Amino acid sequence: MVAKAEQLYEGKAKILYACDQADKLVAHFKDDATAFNAKKKGTIINKGVFNNKISAVILKMLEDKGVKTHFVEVLSDRECLVKKVDIIPVEVVVRNVVAGSMAKKLGLEEGIVLKRPIVEFFYKSDPLDDPQINEDTAIAMDWATPEECVFLKEAALRVNEILLEFFDSLGIRLVDYKLEFGRSSDGILLADEITPDGCRLWDKATGEKLDKDRFRRDLGNVEEAYQKIFELVSNA
Ligand SMILES: Nc1ncnc2c1ncn2[C@@H]1O[C@H](COP(=O)(O)OP(=O)(O)OP(=O)(O)O)[C@@H](O)[C@H]1O
Ligand SMILES: [Mg+2]
Repeated sequence: MVAKAEQLYEGKAKILYACDQADKLVAHFKDDATAFNAKKKGTIINKGVFNNKISAVILKMLEDKGVKTHFVEVLSDRECLVKKVDIIPVEVVVRNVVAGSMAKKLGLEEGIVLKRPIVEFFYKSDPLDDPQINEDTAIAMDWATPEECVFLKEAALRVNEILLEFFDSLGIRLVDYKLEFGRSSDGILLADEITPDGCRLWDKATGEKLDKDRFRRDLGNVEEAYQKIFELVSNA
């Protein structure tokens, strides 16, 4: 039994609580949905339940394949136990297919398959809308050391190999996604969540978007998309 203690942080998608294990946290997944840095707000019914389970299955699968993550165990429908980390303020984005901000910035059609995966760094800052940075900026600002930058990129590419194969086997095209990492006494761990909130997932057969773009772009059937990923991942 894990005894939940005081609330430490409420973010856009999750609430973090302290617990009776000093080196761990309870993460509670909410139904709140935001987009465009919280300029658009809404609710996706049962998103918290779906995302808790989706992230748990994926992080556990990564752990089994040798990627160190913060995931410990699922506690309930909406809660899981994670190792507490000091989040590195560099969001790591991996792209396999052109979409979203990359399509916009470079004037490209969404859906172009990249010759090789791209790893991008963004500074984790809500007031600044998470601006894109490069490794030099992260190092010069002391957001990450040179060694950590190398680690982040290599870990992201390893995660990508595993996730590409995993989603492909489920009939899903893994277009792009965001990862967060944190420092702990066990070294750098993959943290936060891997869910349709932070991934672009397209149905391989139909091209249908099964991720938060349905909410961002008012495409309808938002809950159904999260539920579909939940069912596919749960039965994997
Ligand atoms: N294991 C962990 N230890 C400490 N903090 C964590 C851990 N995993 C995730 N976090 C942090 O907890 C917060 C999770 O909440 P949520 O996903 O709601 O944040 P958010 O609103 O997206 O905010 P942010 O812009 O800070 O990511 C994030 O800031 C995330 O970096
Ligand atoms: Mg978040």
